[in-house]
Amino acid sequence: MQLLKDRILAEGNVKDETLLNVDSFLNQQVDPTLMNEIGKEFATFFSDQGITKIVTIESSGISPALMTSLHMNVPMIILKKDPSKILNDNANETIVNSFTKQNSYTLSLLGNYITENDHVLIIDDFLADGEAVAGAARLIRKTHATIAGIGIVIEKSFQSGAKKLKELGFDVHSLVQIQSLADNIITFQ
Ligand code: G4P
Repeated sequence: MQLLKDRILAEGNVKDETLLNVDSFLNQQVDPTLMNEIGKEFATFFSDQGITKIVTIESSGISPALMTSLHMNVPMIILKKDPSKILNDNANETIVNSFTKQNSYTLSLLGNYITENDHVLIIDDFLADGEAVAGAARLIRKTHATIAGIGIVIEKSFQSGAKKLKELGFDVHSLVQIQSLADNIITFQ
């Protein structure tokens, strides 16, 4: 997606050879016009697949996922990290290990918003080692819903996530693929 590549080149900051900061339009400040275009792009790519729900992971997946759900005219469901149990005693849970953050957290699907009749599209902002998305897929499968595919805004192709998810049989569609962040240079695949 050229618009996204241009924005990454204009505003992205390479933090180190594995981390790209895009706080100005995706992770802290959010550009709704760009998110709208991202939503359109995912909706077009995954059209005619009978998708009934969009699932994302809080927090930065929400903006692109919401715009995708708007363009596909289906609801969006948010998977929560370590949610309060007070209101939710019927949570489906799985443990996710984050290499970037060097921690583990519980990812939860709350409520009965996904059923066996659903065909789900997972949307997330970054794909690194694919642990969060794999956790999301585990939770969705517990409901016996089917998974149509995975939409990623920024894939870091030098990490293992895309390969891992494709080997698991998922249709992974990334809007941009970053091949390298070495020497402070953003190189697209
Ligand atoms: P993985 O799921 O693909 O294995 O990713 P990992 O655990 O390594 O990533 C943990 C968090 O760091 C995720 O956000 C992910 O989106 C984010 N992340 C990974 N690589 C980058 C990067 O190069 N740049 C930026 N900006 N973020 C990156 P999170 O903890 O879920 O936070 P948030 O969604 O609340 O923002």
